[in-house]
Amino acid sequence: MFFYGTSRVNDKGHLEIGGVDTVDLAKEYGTPLYIYDVALIRQRARAFKETFEKYGVKAQVAYASKAFSTVAMVQLVEEEGLSLDVVSGGELYTALKADFPPERIHFHGNNKSRQELEMALAHGVGCIVIDNFYELQLLEQICAERGMTASVLIRVTPGIEAHTHDYILTGQEDSKFGFDLNNGQADRALKQALSSPSFHVLGIHCHIGSQIFETTGFVLAAQKIFHKIADWKEVYDFVPKVVNLGGGFGIRYTNEDTPLPAAEYVENIIAEAAKQAAELGIAMPEIWIEPGRSLVGDAGTAIYSIGSRKEVPNVRHYVAVDGGMSDNIRPALYEAKYEAVLANRVLDEKQEVVAIAGKCCESGDMLIWDLPLPKTEAGDYLAVFCTGAYGYSMANNYNRLPRPAVVFVENGEAQLVVRRETYEDLVRLDVPLRAKVNR
Ligand SMILES: Cc1ncc(COP(=O)(O)O)c(C=O)c1O
Repeated sequence: MFFYGTSRVNDKGHLEIGGVDTVDLAKEYGTPLYIYDVALIRQRARAFKETFEKYGVKAQVAYASKAFSTVAMVQLVEEEGLSLDVVSGGELYTALKADFPPERIHFHGNNKSRQELEMALAHGVGCIVIDNFYELQLLEQICAERGMTASVLIRVTPGIEAHTHDYILTGQEDSKFGFDLNNGQADRALKQALSSPSFHVLGIHCHIGSQIFETTGFVLAAQKIFHKIADWKEVYDFVPKVVNLGGGFGIRYTNEDTPLPAAEYVENIIAEAAKQAAELGIAMPEIWIEPGRSLVGDAGTAIYSIGSRKEVPNVRHYVAVDGGMSDNIRPALYEAKYEAVLANRVLDEKQEVVAIAGKCCESGDMLIWDLPLPKTEAGDYLAVFCTGAYGYSMANNYNRLPRPAVVFVENGEAQLVVRRETYEDLVRLDVPLRAKVNR
């Protein structure tokens, strides 16, 4: 069993987070319920930011809001002085609703629409990360129509695929994102952007993967980008002000995961960038990164109520909860693994290994396959750890299940930041064929 941040067992044997009893929260707000440990989010954010500060490196740490985007979360990011990465009009709208300074917003996406680009320009976002030739042309056209200049980064795919402990060098990356660094696409895109009066090219962006537990992938990506910068300096007289190395810093979902401290990723990135810049005789660029999961992943805990149970003799015991792939699709989508405990009986002796089933009408709707637990009863609360990233943000209404409430906890206080959807919310967009007949 492992606990993160402020999580602990209180004298009732209940899971407590941020000084608040999670069983009380489940009773007050209902289940499924997402609880975020605000102190832990702050700690994670500061670890990245302070490492750059320690080495005197100009940087922006942009929270990748796709991991968990709500108005309160964006406000928290603002409090911590981070920047924000958004990938859609909806994420941008959320940021604006939260009064996030637009100049610290970076707009991503592989298929931004005209309307989204216009919205970004109208609100003065800090930079647009150009992903492909279509966007290059579209954005140039929109800027020309409005007599505006857009600050942009050029997103490249450096031919490094990093995932967990593996990184693969590929000649040409098979990815829907970015301009290939190896086949001349990135050179063409940069040349085009530099020659346009509509763009102020701030620099280069890449993102090499997710759940990365090594620094090697980031170091290799930096090397590849700086080698290209040598060419670009020569050919286009272009030296980037910014090198953005994306997100992907790993977290510990289970004991099999062995993430590095934020400082270690950042220190290695800084060391490589400084070395490369010195070799090229250029000023150290600003280093930008985009952590998503590593800021919110282990700060989130999902609480479910346990309901039905099915025993398949000699095979397994299914224990069903009142949520599932509708509020956390990661296990069904990519076999993500989680640890969990009974929030109301954390210290009780484990007596059996059960499979935690969701309540959606899909056999694949399983949250955890093999989880040691005390003998459970209907009404027990299951706390699934590390559900803060890509859980609520991917939540859906499959089977017309209302999406859960979200609560922030800190210093013994709980604050509702997303209310639970109601059945009425579920039908709010439906347009009936005819008026309801009174029977
Ligand atoms: C461009 C970009 N930046 C940042 C991230 C955040 O990644 P993570 O949540 O793994 O840190 C992603 C994730 O998909 C991404 O695509």
